Amino acid sequence: MSEEKQQVSRRQFLNYTLTGVGGFMAAGLLAPMLRMAIDPVLQPPSEGEFVNVGLAVEDITTTPQRVDWKIKQVDGWYESEPGRTAWVYKDDNGDIIALSPICTHLGCVVSWEGSEDHPNQFFCPCHDGRYTKDGVNVKGTPPLAPLPTFEQKVENGMLYLGKAIPRKGA
Ligand code: FES
Repeated sequence: MSEEKQQVSRRQFLNYTLTGVGGFMAAGLLAPMLRMAIDPVLQPPSEGEFVNVGLAVEDITTTPQRVDWKIKQVDGWYESEPGRTAWVYKDDNGDIIALSPICTHLGCVVSWEGSEDHPNQFFCPCHDGRYTKDGVNVKGTPPLAPLPTFEQKVENGMLYLGKAIPRKGA
């Protein structure tokens, strides 16, 4: 009797083991499939795609405000999520302006009223580059072209930004 009991228990052991191994293998196969199905939803958008930058249009004023978001970048086998920034405001006509903060001289980051000596302008601290509120480079300072503007659209009252489009210098 005890031998029969032992055999049953071996059988049970084998059942548990095989079920466990089978379950483990199934999970190993299903997990990547599940990840592939869900991943695009969780991933930040790629460069150039319109992104909800989390700013309601009604909260955009005539004073430039800084907006930050992330995109997904694939460079060969390397994936990263670099941040993007824009200076956003409404002009006198109520149109939304979204400027890239990347200085067109050598690529430093400009700030709105970044210099006390130059109020109402964008200022680049690297070589004292300056831009007027509409992003046009101030003559006599190092930048030779205006700040790029982001493609934009509004959906459900929220601002979406896309690619930064370079502008030609005057
Ligand atoms: S990088 Fe902005 S002025 Fe040189």
